Amino acid sequence: MAIRKVGVIGCGLMGHGIVQVAAQGGFDVVAFEGDKGALDKGLARIEKSLSKLAEKAIEKGKPKEQAEGDAKAAFGRIRGSLDKKDLADCDLVVEAIVEDLDVKKKLFAELGALCKKETIFASNTSSFPIGVMGDASGRPERMVGLHFFNPVQLMKLVEVVRSSKTSDDVFAQARAFGEAVGKTPVSCKDTPGFVVNRLLVPYMSQALLMLERGDASKEDIDAAMQLGCGYPMGPLTLTDYVGLDTTLSILEGWVKTYPDEPAFKIPAILRQKVKEGKLGRKTGEGFYRWEGDKKS
Ligand code: 3HC
Repeated sequence: MAIRKVGVIGCGLMGHGIVQVAAQGGFDVVAFEGDKGALDKGLARIEKSLSKLAEKAIEKGKPKEQAEGDAKAAFGRIRGSLDKKDLADCDLVVEAIVEDLDVKKKLFAELGALCKKETIFASNTSSFPIGVMGDASGRPERMVGLHFFNPVQLMKLVEVVRSSKTSDDVFAQARAFGEAVGKTPVSCKDTPGFVVNRLLVPYMSQALLMLERGDASKEDIDAAMQLGCGYPMGPLTLTDYVGLDTTLSILEGWVKTYPDEPAFKIPAILRQKVKEGKLGRKTGEGFYRWEGDKKS
């Protein structure tokens, strides 16, 4: 495999997980953040997650020394950086920054000028067109989507997205990278929300509209989907888990581009909560109150 050194831009909710699974997959990883506080926080989360996973592996019978050694080795393959120049010689750079297309386009233009010509670019975007970012980078044939799921350490899927300009070789390398980090890749065309979010986000939005209309309580909507369909979380808990701001920005982007698509609706309750700073698990409150990873 041609990919050995991986850069990840952003060490937040998704980025820190991507850094971690890449390191666990044996890749050398540069974890870039613009802000020292955010970088330190991301690295601390990785250390905690690696030790949690080692604990679980020991419980399942993996020798303690080996489990702890593997976690330490994975952490040792990560280099935190506050300097974009450290990404220049990476074979693959994965962007996991804020969901704002203009900010992403600017970043990819910068990376196109900075990185070696062989570098493959990937975006973990939830909903923006990969082709537009590829064009901004100046090397659209070397651009793919690598869309991971939250929590990255546990969810087994990665969507590998190709635009009409992505080369066959780059796409094959991106799929192989997905497998090497322990995920099952599915191939997607460059359509809004790819496969998962095109189905999931309208479902979450319908659940919020249902709550708004007073058809059922949030607890009952969640219990209905958990117990009636076997989903691990109900839709309101999941919206809290994903982030209300992220959900809103996905819907806003779609409504702007596809105003006539009836599946893309923005519930007023979502706007209201975001306005109040209640963004879900990450701020301690969304539709529910949270203490860390658990509802309180
Ligand atoms: N690293 C290591 N361990 C972790 C972890 C992490 N990041 N996150 C959770 N764990 C551990 C927990 O600590 C817990 O350990 P314990 O059993 O010792 O207490 C264990 O994993 C199980 O977690 P929970 O007890 O919280 O309970 P669950 O059994 O419900 O598992 C879950 C958690 C895997 C998150 C499960 O609830 C689930 O699959 N939920 C649905 C998530 C989902 O749908 N994600 C996709 C969102 S959409 C998306 O990401 C796309 C974006 O573009 C919008």
